[in-house]
Amino acid sequence: AIDILKLRALTGAITLDPGYKNSGSCQSAITFLDGEQGILRYRGYSIEQLAEHSNFLEVAYLIIFGELPSNDQIVKFENDIRKYSIVNEEMKGIIDGFPKTAHPMGVLSSLTSALTAFNPKVVDAECEKDMYEAVCKTMAKFLVIATWTYRKAKGLPLNYYDNTQPYVDSFMRMMFTLPTEPYDLDPVVRNAIDKLFILHADHEQNCSTSTVRMVGSSHAGLFASISAGVSALWGPLHGGANQAVLEMLEEIQKDGGDVTKFIEKAKDKNDPFRLMGFGHRVYKNFDPRARIIKKAANEVLSKLGVDDPVLAIAKELEAKALEDKYFVDRHLYPNVDFYSGIIYRALGIPTEMFTVMFAIGRLPGWIAQWKEMRINKEPIGRPRQLYVGAPLREFVPMEKR
Ligand code: ACO
Repeated sequence: AIDILKLRALTGAITLDPGYKNSGSCQSAITFLDGEQGILRYRGYSIEQLAEHSNFLEVAYLIIFGELPSNDQIVKFENDIRKYSIVNEEMKGIIDGFPKTAHPMGVLSSLTSALTAFNPKVVDAECEKDMYEAVCKTMAKFLVIATWTYRKAKGLPLNYYDNTQPYVDSFMRMMFTLPTEPYDLDPVVRNAIDKLFILHADHEQNCSTSTVRMVGSSHAGLFASISAGVSALWGPLHGGANQAVLEMLEEIQKDGGDVTKFIEKAKDKNDPFRLMGFGHRVYKNFDPRARIIKKAANEVLSKLGVDDPVLAIAKELEAKALEDKYFVDRHLYPNVDFYSGIIYRALGIPTEMFTVMFAIGRLPGWIAQWKEMRINKEPIGRPRQLYVGAPLREFVPMEKR
């Protein structure tokens, strides 16, 4: 047998794959993704069936624990999430330190990390009880602080988890109403948010998830690892694309609505502008989530009676780009975030919260991947590099520089 370490030491050979375009980093039993055929499955169940028949909490349970829950299991899960939903009052002092103008994703990442200070217990991923408690705590507290990032930006009092409501309803209540105000969530809105969260719940080794696994591989805690995942998600090439898409569509609208002009701009290699919401590292035919979301966007807008001119621009942009040789040759199709912002807007979610919505949806994936990585006893992530800097040279004293 070849000793790979000895061989490497002798030859200095490493695999160079910037952006990990063709490198697997782990084995995983959570999400199956076939980019050529546009297939996405969580734990073997198709994304289409889950989006049609399930709800977010059930999908979260499936992704994290591996099986769809029984009725008793899901009732217990929801109750246990409620039980752990209290966020330490001192966290409010931390959020007070941020200016109102701070981006909610930056605040979310900081607050998630700060949760470690108030929940210092080291989670033993192999201990079922320990892990279950950590899952419930994370699902609950992350949701609460996610709404705080918005309430802070608006100068509104911070709300607490509403134990009388289901998960998604409690989220909407914490975002938009005081506990003293009457509350009744439109089922169309609830279903749309549930669906969006389900579609975002996991996506194998994307940038934020591999960040969570990488940080966790040094045996950093769950909150610290998820906080790093939030930062990775924030970027416009990843989760931040949903905010960027809507801003782009609004810009096209303000500019007079000529989508061709923006398509040409995106094709110009001297212009850094890209069509936001187009292209995907893995999907090279279509993104199955985008199909579901496009249909949902049409349904939600017509059910809520919203006539959004931005949707018309999105449809025209999509149709024209899909006929354009540049986009066809490069297999650039609308991704999940091309339509998600339009739905969020119709539901009354402010633009700067779009990526936070993505983060709430992706949370079960991050937790499941962290848990799997620790249970599989994966080694610390430590990529190599190809050094291209200066060769050995003599130190130059200050007076000779
Ligand atoms: N608009 C215009 N051209 C594009 C776009 C785009 N949106 N996306 C890729 N291209 C072009 C590139 O310029 C490149 O062209 P070239 O071969 O002539 O140099 C070619 O297509 C391949 O692009 P890469 O950047 O090499 O592809 P990669 O797999 O590294 O990037 C990514 C994928 C980051 C998603 C990219 O398509 C992009 O920036 N899209 C816009 C941002 C976006 O929507 N991100 C959300 C992704 S989905 C998610 O995270 C949930």
